[in-house]
Order: sequence, then structure tokens, then C-alpha cells
Amino acid sequence: MKKRWVGSGWKMNLLSPEVEAFCRDLRAGLPRISMAVEMFVVPAYPYLQMVAEQLKGTRVHVAAQNMHWEERGAYTGEVSPAMLRDVGVSLVELGHHERRTLFHESDEDINRKVHAALQHGLRPVICVGEAENVGAAQAAGIVMEQMRGALAGVSSRALREILFAYEPGWAIGTSGAPAPRDYVAGMHTALRRGIATLYGEEVAAAVPVLYGGSVGEDNAAAYLDESAVSGLFVGRAARTADGFLRLAEQADAKTFEVNERSGPFASR
Ligand code: PGA
Repeated sequence: MKKRWVGSGWKMNLLSPEVEAFCRDLRAGLPRISMAVEMFVVPAYPYLQMVAEQLKGTRVHVAAQNMHWEERGAYTGEVSPAMLRDVGVSLVELGHHERRTLFHESDEDINRKVHAALQHGLRPVICVGEAENVGAAQAAGIVMEQMRGALAGVSSRALREILFAYEPGWAIGTSGAPAPRDYVAGMHTALRRGIATLYGEEVAAAVPVLYGGSVGEDNAAAYLDESAVSGLFVGRAARTADGFLRLAEQADAKTFEVNERSGPFASR
């Protein structure tokens, strides 16, 4: 059975009392979600260790929001993959729209980070997506380039450790509007086809591709109905454990239905 993924990205939000409450409530609510749903949280750096400790022994993966590609050295302000591993992190978000636009991360930077993450046993969650709403054809070209850039030199064996999140910049945050379901399905299918061209269909079919950008309780089910969408990567609507759990419940409910339907390249 194909699993579904639901991630909660905290960005630069939540202080200790909220972090503690999130972890406590999440632990309490986990029995509501079946093992068919893979869950991860993405706290800011100062809380990674605390979250990893508080969620220890649960099935929730702890992810970092970024990292440097070097293992150590004179890189003031940066955090290395070895440090992330050391504090209990297992996934790392790379190339989020805000990293690309506000902090000028290039595909080359992201590619270095992908290699470093893999070398250190961290699973990269590679974020791709067009910044502006330029239409599906142009957007697919942008996403292909980001995907190829991020995966340069990555073997098909290593690809099995990688997740993608398709997050169009124009759909993210308070000024964003959720991307239409058909549009998302088309972009996910295009991304998988691009991966299939490089690595073959079997590998491409197995790569989880999540959607992110103004996902909420009202639209989650529609995205999850698409077999090309492996899950959701959520900011605001998953910033409390309760919101996160409710979205995970939706993913859980849809998992079986979608698994019954045709293969990964079908858009419906
Ligand atoms: P949002 O953020 O759900 O608050 O739109 C999504 C993201 O940036 O991953």
C-alpha cells in the first residue's frame, strides 16, 4: 500500500510553550492516525532537539527547515547535516520558496545540500514551484529545471530517499490562493514524468510528491483525491497539533480509496 505524507512546517513561528503544547497534543492524538500516514514536523532550529526528545518513540519524523552542505567549519550562522543528525533530525526541507526568494538559494546550492543530506543519512524534502502564477506550461518548465538542478549527480538508488514538495510561490501564505486541484494534479504528473525521464518509471512512481500552499481542512480532501499527490505539506493550517491531526485524518481516510484506483500517472 502506498503511504500518504502530511508535514507541518512551522517556519519562524512558535516559542517553547507552544512547541511543548504541540508535542504533547500530537502525542495524545497519534492513536487516531493509522500507520498508512507518514507524519513530519518542521520546527525552527532552536527547538529541533526538544521536539525530537518530546516525540521520541513515536512515528513522527522531525525535519529541519534548511542546512548548510558542509559538515563543519567557519560558516557563522549555519547548521550542518551532522548537527541535525546529532539532535535527532531525520528529514531536511531544502529549497523552500522563501529560501529561494528571500535568501537567494540557487538550484546549485540546493543540489549541494541534497548530496550532503544523503551522505549524512538525512532524507531531503526538495521544494519546487514557480514563484508567480505564469500558467501551467511555463510553470512546468520552471519546476523541471528546479528538479533537474536539485538532482544533478543523484543516483536512482539515492532517489529512493528523496521526497518532493510542489509548492507554487503564489499559493503560499496569507497573500496566497490555493492552487486549483486539476492544476496541482497536472503539475505533479508533469514532475513525475520528468523524474521518470531521468530515472525510469518505477523509481518516479515511488517518489513521494507532496502539495503545499494554502492547504486547509476545506481543500485537503480534494488534493488527496488525486493519485499523483502523495500528501500535503502545510503551514498555517497545521500549526497546532489539532489542525495537523485533522489533516492527517483526512489523508488517512483517503489513502485506501486512492490506492484502489489506477497507477501514479493517472491524474484522477
Ligand atoms: P501555508 O504554507 O500552508 O501557510 O500556505 C505552506 C508552505 O510554505 O509550505
